[in-house]
Amino acid sequence: MQLQVGLLSMMAVACAPTPKHTAGPVYLDPDAPIEERVEDALARMTLREKIALIHAQSKFSAPGVPRLGIPELWTTDGPHGIRPEVLWDEWDQASWTNDSCVAYPALTCLAATWNPEMAALYGKSIGEEARYREKDVLLGPGVNIYRTPLNGRNFEYMGEDPYLASRMVVPYVQEVQKNGVAACVKHYAINNEETHRHTIDVDLDDRALYEIYLPAFKAAVEEGGAWSIMGAYNLYRGQHCCHNQRLLNDILKGEWGFDGAVISDWGGVHDTNEAIHNGLDLEFGTWTDGLTMGATNAYDNYYMAEPYLQKIERGEVGTDELDDKVRRVLRLTFRTAMNPYKPFGSMRSEEHYAAARRIGEEGIVLLRNENKTLPFDLDGMKRIVVVGENAVKMMTVGGGSSSLKVQREVSPLDGIRARVGDRAEVVWVRGYVGDVGGEYNGVTSGQNLRDDRSAGALIAEAVEAARGADAVVFVGGLNKSDRQDCEGTDREGLELPYEQDRVIEALAAVNPRLVVALVSGNAVAMPWVEQVPAIMQVWYLGSEAGNALASVLFGDANPSGKLPFSFPVRLEDNGAHATDSIFPHDGKTYYKDGIFVGYRWLEKEGTTPLFAFGHGLSYTTFEYGAVTADRKSIDERGTLNVSVEVTNTGDRAGAEVVQLYLADCESSLPRPVKELKGFEKVQLEPGETKVVTFPVTVEALKYYDDTQGRWVAEKGTFEAMVGASSADIRGTVAFELK
Ligand code: GLC
Repeated sequence: MQLQVGLLSMMAVACAPTPKHTAGPVYLDPDAPIEERVEDALARMTLREKIALIHAQSKFSAPGVPRLGIPELWTTDGPHGIRPEVLWDEWDQASWTNDSCVAYPALTCLAATWNPEMAALYGKSIGEEARYREKDVLLGPGVNIYRTPLNGRNFEYMGEDPYLASRMVVPYVQEVQKNGVAACVKHYAINNEETHRHTIDVDLDDRALYEIYLPAFKAAVEEGGAWSIMGAYNLYRGQHCCHNQRLLNDILKGEWGFDGAVISDWGGVHDTNEAIHNGLDLEFGTWTDGLTMGATNAYDNYYMAEPYLQKIERGEVGTDELDDKVRRVLRLTFRTAMNPYKPFGSMRSEEHYAAARRIGEEGIVLLRNENKTLPFDLDGMKRIVVVGENAVKMMTVGGGSSSLKVQREVSPLDGIRARVGDRAEVVWVRGYVGDVGGEYNGVTSGQNLRDDRSAGALIAEAVEAARGADAVVFVGGLNKSDRQDCEGTDREGLELPYEQDRVIEALAAVNPRLVVALVSGNAVAMPWVEQVPAIMQVWYLGSEAGNALASVLFGDANPSGKLPFSFPVRLEDNGAHATDSIFPHDGKTYYKDGIFVGYRWLEKEGTTPLFAFGHGLSYTTFEYGAVTADRKSIDERGTLNVSVEVTNTGDRAGAEVVQLYLADCESSLPRPVKELKGFEKVQLEPGETKVVTFPVTVEALKYYDDTQGRWVAEKGTFEAMVGASSADIRGTVAFELK
């Protein structure tokens, strides 16, 4: 008996819930409700500690509260991979030997997959690398709308359509944050070109703001649960976006209930009063007046540092705004640096390389493929000629803050050579000389691309090599140097640079088996489009570029990408340029194209694009059945299901992105001809049929009525259009909103 009692009492002790944490300060208790932790920490902080918490202490870090054991907050670029470590107050890398990374495809490529699963894979992978590098905030993704093909930073964003960008940003944010790393969705807002980016004062009507430029940010906050947002450099209606009352307090924190921290872009803060009152929470990168960069105590001269403290001490402002900023920074810290349940991350793993390759393979867009030029069949080939600087040029170095120091980058030429092996000869010729540079912030590509030959000589060499080849692959496009796809500058025209058109036309004249692969983050003009049988938009694909490209070229992967933005034939076909409302006049610009951005403009004008939004071919073919609706009308509570059968009528497996567009046949305010309101990527075996169904509710029918300041859906007839692109509608069905 005695023994039993003893055993029971031991078991009782063993089963008693041991206190997870000994009694201590609530803010240190990881299991305490986060808001209790915030209030407890706030109550313990001195005024100077609060002021210190809301601005940077170094180029990419903010101080915690050392006395209380609240850790520093470390941020890192960028949207495509984890930036190399920099010196305390420099942009140049610190030459660490443990910080090379995997470069993932640029976000235009991710958008081109039209596959939220790829966005989740992307966020998971890059989040693991940020976590492993012990970073708390990832400065990305960027979701600014693609408004002009000249914007130097379009490659960092997700295209021209707010619905596509909204669907793709949410999984990226959610998966990054599962690593205990905050996404910092940028650049909020209406930062759609780089020219005079620090000073341009942007204005636009509320319909364009709410229907086009804000949705992706709204989705990132309301559905993605983003823990931080980055203010943009530009002004909106005369106030810098980093401290803009309407964007930050009224919309982001008011209408959307954002509880995270607003982080300035680096150098985006210009006024202490506005910073105090207009919703900024964390100041980074300010060039402090009177002090050179890097001078001692330069950070104390930040707008939200000494100047703020002095205002409080002089009684000019209270501490309510300060406490709100501190609460948000503490909340961000508890979600990241002080989150004890965060995983450990990983770096440069084969899973990450596989993810980069898979996203690249799914994002490559086959624009044109006449005479079944692609995929290449190696069996019949003896000599493949690869032409172009972009076949060899490293693209992960340069382009601005998204520049990286990669562990490896497989070039298109390397990828093709690896795939071909000894089964055929692969010859490379330069074709043209573009940008021979290869250094950014102390990271060098190690390539010597110098070539003093004339364009004529280079073209002659390329033509000679291409003569008689079994296939010619021209790899060109843009690059990451100034006035190409690069932060801080915009392109000067739609044309391909470096006289590439001459090379392409010369190659087309000498060999019909020509493929043009464009490495870029922007649309380009293609005067030779009819002479080139096969054209691919291959984006900036990162570390696995060559392998992803070769995989599609040789048919290991069946391309399934669709364009996330339109390719206009001419620049003036684009709405921002047709209305001359891109570049500033007297420092200002007003978006006169309003809601008519991208295909919305082209369809309003009846202008045929070179390649349409949502366009992308496959190595197989798909047939669409009749588009049906399960009811003839809905009211504001109902759901109508639009369905279509899709069949793979070809001889190999493939994926099709089935797109749903809705048209409001009668509206009291102008509306686009149609708008993307649904998409689904379906994998189909040869001969397989699947039914794709899109649930439609009144939410999808609404537009923002800026005369009433709210979203409205007007009764009447609507049309659901289902297709393989915005310009390839395969069926429609009408229905009524009662
Ligand atoms: C840059 C960019 C921003 C980047 C930040 C830190 O100027 O605008 O995207 O995250 O500064 O490098």
